[in-house]
Parts: sequence; structure tokens; C-alpha cells
Amino acid sequence: MTLSPEEMKKVYDIQRSMHQKFRHVNSIYGEPLPYLGRLFIVHEGVFWPSKDSEALVKNYAINPGEEVCDVCTGSGVIAVHSAWKGAKKVVALDINPNAIKSTLENSKYHNLGDIIEARQSDVFSALKSEERFEVVTMNPPFTDHKKEVGDYAELTVWDPALHVQKSFFDGLDRVLKHIPTARAYVTQASFGAIDEMVERADKTGFSVQEIGKNVVDDLRTFYAFELRRKK
Ligand SMILES: C[S@@+](CC[C@H](N)C(=O)[O-])C[C@H]1O[C@@H](n2cnc3c(N)ncnc32)[C@H](O)[C@@H]1O
Repeated sequence: MTLSPEEMKKVYDIQRSMHQKFRHVNSIYGEPLPYLGRLFIVHEGVFWPSKDSEALVKNYAINPGEEVCDVCTGSGVIAVHSAWKGAKKVVALDINPNAIKSTLENSKYHNLGDIIEARQSDVFSALKSEERFEVVTMNPPFTDHKKEVGDYAELTVWDPALHVQKSFFDGLDRVLKHIPTARAYVTQASFGAIDEMVERADKTGFSVQEIGKNVVDDLRTFYAFELRRKK
């Protein structure tokens, strides 16, 4: 699933224009955005909820009362959907402090402040050692690309040296409860590190099953996967 160098150049240009958009948001109020018919606020440097997460949001399942950890939460859009699907508690994690601010505002706006907790975190680093979840969700930065400006806007779509992907698979078995229904839902893209994800899942004891996809154009297809411990 590899794009040619010319195609990847087009992807990087699209991503650079996304970074510019994410940087230029009202510094006090943020930007209200529609996503699947609901409103979400994003602050400066935060990823705008978009087509990349739709295959996941439309196809993943949460059983009533489950506890969920949403890594790379951004505006908190997946955390909010997990609460709407019935989660009892959602811990939302992101490296960007403005993502935490956006997630807290969106949780409050949608009356989910008592269900969603948000913490600044490098992948799972802010979880307490004893915290375990039935479900982990993640819509990560897809592309292994080195920093150019070096701000949080770039880390929305670029994952230098696949740090996020590596840390996710290093921590997943510890963070997921050891029960048969435990699972993770993860997105990836036609231009991203899918093969690396499948390899890391396999090496850390997880099977990968596609649960949905969203074809945007010739360059960009977004996928949603369910990961479970191999039997
Ligand atoms: C593609 S965005 C997804 C945002 C949101 N979940 C959504 O679906 O709209 C990726 C997110 O990963 C976050 N991120 C990047 N590196 C991270 C890290 N090391 N630890 C935690 N979050 C990180 C970014 O700040 C960004 O919010």
C-alpha cells in the first residue's frame, strides 16, 4: 500500500496546508466546526475533526458501562462519541495542551463532563500504573515525517520515527483489561504506516481486522481497524 514519491509529495503539501489552517484559529474562542451533524470547538494548533475518523466513528461499538481510553484525542471527538455510545468513563489523552482544553470544552458543551476526563500525555504516559480499560481508541498522526516547524500543528498528522505508533503498541497489552471482550479501535490511511501497524500488532500479540473505510480521493483512503488479543 505504498504511494509513489510524487503522490507522497502531494500528500505532504495537503498536510502542510492543514497545519496552516490549524494554526490560524481565534486565540480566545477557537473555531466551532460541524462533524457528523454535531458541533465541536478546536483551539489553536488542534486537529479539526474530519473524514479520517469517520470510518471508525461510524463502525465501532461500545457496550454500555465500558471504560474507554482515547489516545490522540485532539478535539475529543472520539471520546465524545464513546460517551454517546454508552461508555461509563472515558480518559482522553493528547500531547497538545490545547487539545486538552478543546476536549474539556467539548465534553462540557455536550453535557458529558462527568464521563470524560482529559489529560496531557505522551501516548499512555499520563495513565496511572493501575488504570485498565475495556476499550482503547486512537486516530493517530499517520505519516512518518520529520518535524519542519516543530509545533503541535505538525504533530496532528506527522509522527516522526513513528514514536506514537511504537509507544501505543509498547503499552497496549498493559492498558487493556485481560478479558475476552477487550479491544482497540485504530485508524490508518492509504498514505500512512499501515504495514508497520499490522507488523507491530502481530509482534505484540494482536490480530487486526478492518471494520470500515472512507475513500476520499485517489490519494486518500482512511481505514478503521479492530484489534484483539490473538487466541
Ligand atoms: C489525526 S489527530 C486526531 C485527533 C482526533 N482524535 C480526531 O479524530 O479528530 C492526531 C492527534 O494525535 C496527537 N498526538 C501527536 N503526538 C502525540 C503523542 N506523542 N502523544 C499523544 N498524542 C499525540 C495530536 O496532538 C493530535 O491531536
